[in-house]
Amino acid sequence: MQTEYQQRREAFISKIGNGTAIFRSAPMAVMHNDVEYAYRQDSDFFYLTGFNEPEAVAVLAPNHPEHRFVLFVQPKDREKEVWTGYRCGVDAAKEIYGADEAYPISELDEKLPQYLEKADRIYYRLGRDRNFNETVLNHYQILLRTYPKRGTGPIAIEDTGAILHSMRLVKSEAELQLMQKAADIAVEAHNHAIKIAQPGSYEYEIQAEMERIFRLRGGNGPAYPSIVASGVNACVLHYIENNRQMQDHELLLIDAGCAYGYYNSDITRTFPVGGKFTGEQKALYEIVLAAQKQAIAQVKPGNSFHQGHETAVRILTEGLVELGILRGDIDNLIEEEKYKPYYMHRTGHWLGLDVHDVGVYQHGEDKPQLLQPGHILTVEPGLYIVPHTEPAEDQPAVDPRWVGIGIRIEDDVLVTPNGNQVLTAGVPKEIGEVER
Ligand code: GLY
Ligand code: MN
Ligand code: MN
Repeated sequence: MQTEYQQRREAFISKIGNGTAIFRSAPMAVMHNDVEYAYRQDSDFFYLTGFNEPEAVAVLAPNHPEHRFVLFVQPKDREKEVWTGYRCGVDAAKEIYGADEAYPISELDEKLPQYLEKADRIYYRLGRDRNFNETVLNHYQILLRTYPKRGTGPIAIEDTGAILHSMRLVKSEAELQLMQKAADIAVEAHNHAIKIAQPGSYEYEIQAEMERIFRLRGGNGPAYPSIVASGVNACVLHYIENNRQMQDHELLLIDAGCAYGYYNSDITRTFPVGGKFTGEQKALYEIVLAAQKQAIAQVKPGNSFHQGHETAVRILTEGLVELGILRGDIDNLIEEEKYKPYYMHRTGHWLGLDVHDVGVYQHGEDKPQLLQPGHILTVEPGLYIVPHTEPAEDQPAVDPRWVGIGIRIEDDVLVTPNGNQVLTAGVPKEIGEVER
């Protein structure tokens, strides 16, 4: 794996000319008072280094004669390590992580200038750590002031995203394996959930059973707060209380994915708690399922990212018209977004080191991102007949028999040279399979 991190650094370096790039580790996140969350490295930092400790800075300096890759890290400290865990330290930063040079983080201000002085620009993404932004700006400002003395030095700061995030968008073979593993674990958890959920179960019981499998199979845990939403709770897109007792004749919507080796899966299934759909549930489910399948069929090289969404919106709108929930000409309803009270989110997002992964969806007006092999995205249409929702202008009031039904179906889809591969196909979604 170290070779792959090195290849990524070289690929990045090959695109920054004579610049120097600076990356900051993620901060420790506070849960409450002085209790912290388990540490999770910044995804950009991790992608380029595999280094997963806080208080670190990585520098890529192709213009430096010897040190193209430099790490600033927390030094070894026996006493502190007893409390907060193992630190790799300065020496191993070179031996294990392949840094050409490494320093204790306390020497950053002293050592950083030598890596910036000959660069023509600094590549850096302004982050949430305002103090560190200030550190970078201070160095930049000093170098600008002393520029006339040297006639060299950075004269611009450029964001790292355009280069790095288009790299992250295309997954390597090693990344695909981790993504498939994250998917497989979540598939197992969803299949288990469908087996055990029944009238009388509490949402949190299902959540607990699923998250048990996430850990049991070596995952880090949920990729995001698991959504286990029975009945009308499914109409809250980010419902995470998961504390209700589910009843017969209701649907259960589960949106839960697993984090594995820094990568993520993101799956949603909706199924009848008591084993059988009601007529209304089935009618809406069939529409969402058709929309999802046809949107997946749009996932292939050369198609735009948005084609899946456009396809889903059309099928959902047609379905709503057939059921009498919308009224009018399909094209007009789509054009005027009359479906939005019942379908208010997009049909997917990039998936990878981040659940809502980096990478652009659009290269300016009229230039959508085209899909290419190695992209991974979710396809997740839904319908939500939210209680007390106002229909769009000129649209009928919703017949109460539909109200309170929420459905979403979500898979993780890899773009392949000939089309796509659904990484999460192991969880059933056909009516005959989710009914019991
Ligand atoms: N579970 C987050 C999402 O579907 O985007
Ligand atoms: Mn999801
Ligand atoms: Mn998603």
